[in-house]
Amino acid sequence: MNYYGVFGNPIAHSKSPLIHRLFAEQTGQQISYEPLLAALDGFPEAVTQFFKAGSGANVTVPFKEQAFVLADQLSERALRAKAVNTLKKLADGRLLGDNTDGAGLVNDLLNNQVELAKKNILILGAGGAVRGVLEPLLAQHPAEVCIANRTVEKAEQLAREFADLGPMTACGYDWIDAPVDIIINGTSASLSGELPPLASTLIKAKHTICYDMMYGRQTTIFNQWAQSQDAARTLDGLGMLVEQAAEAFYLWTGVRPNPAPVLQQLRAQL
Ligand code: ATR
Repeated sequence: MNYYGVFGNPIAHSKSPLIHRLFAEQTGQQISYEPLLAALDGFPEAVTQFFKAGSGANVTVPFKEQAFVLADQLSERALRAKAVNTLKKLADGRLLGDNTDGAGLVNDLLNNQVELAKKNILILGAGGAVRGVLEPLLAQHPAEVCIANRTVEKAEQLAREFADLGPMTACGYDWIDAPVDIIINGTSASLSGELPPLASTLIKAKHTICYDMMYGRQTTIFNQWAQSQDAARTLDGLGMLVEQAAEAFYLWTGVRPNPAPVLQQLRAQL
């Protein structure tokens, strides 16, 4: 039996244990996967304790940056993200830190037949969630990625940091009105029921695809706005959640699960 789990605080609400148990059932892997509540000031100790027997762990809010610091080795995408959502114990006992969030987003978009190559992509937000997905997104060779943020300097900083990977620009919400192919909402505004002040002209009717990294039982507030502007399609972040888990499961076990039926089950239970 191999031991896995997800660190967070709080963690009881996490869907990761269910997702990974379904992956294990589906692929016939003998694993245990538990929620791991770490004290806010006790994450390093909790990690040391867990990995005496554990093989791998996911890391969620608020520990992703700490996991980045304590990993012994980092993948390129984790280095860029400056955050780790997946830890794996290597054969020599050292911890590899990876970040599968961006792959989760890209895979979910591709699963939904949303091509990213040569597309103009607008990303809303410049916090940790956006930083975490930029490397895999740019690896799809979009025509341009524009980062819009309330605090413009943060968008500019991200654009500078990732400029070597592809064409990036930064702006404030009131600087932009030309239609784009894809809009990705990576702000936490919707948590408080808010929307960034977006020009309706950003959406070209029946053409622009909108993706909200948030999800919920109801259509998210950003996707409601997108639908009211006649967006071609709206997608939410539940698929990204399942896909980032699939990528972690693959890193740990070498087996790639089929995320589609797991996503279906999760959606039904929201
Ligand atoms: P996360 O880890 O979820 O990315 P974060 O690093 O705190 O959290 O980033 C939150 C993002 O949501 C930021 O881009 C923030 O904009 P600022 O950098 O200007 O603060 C954005 N955000 C949060 N509430 C918002 C709101 N009401 N309107 C617009 N943007 C908002």
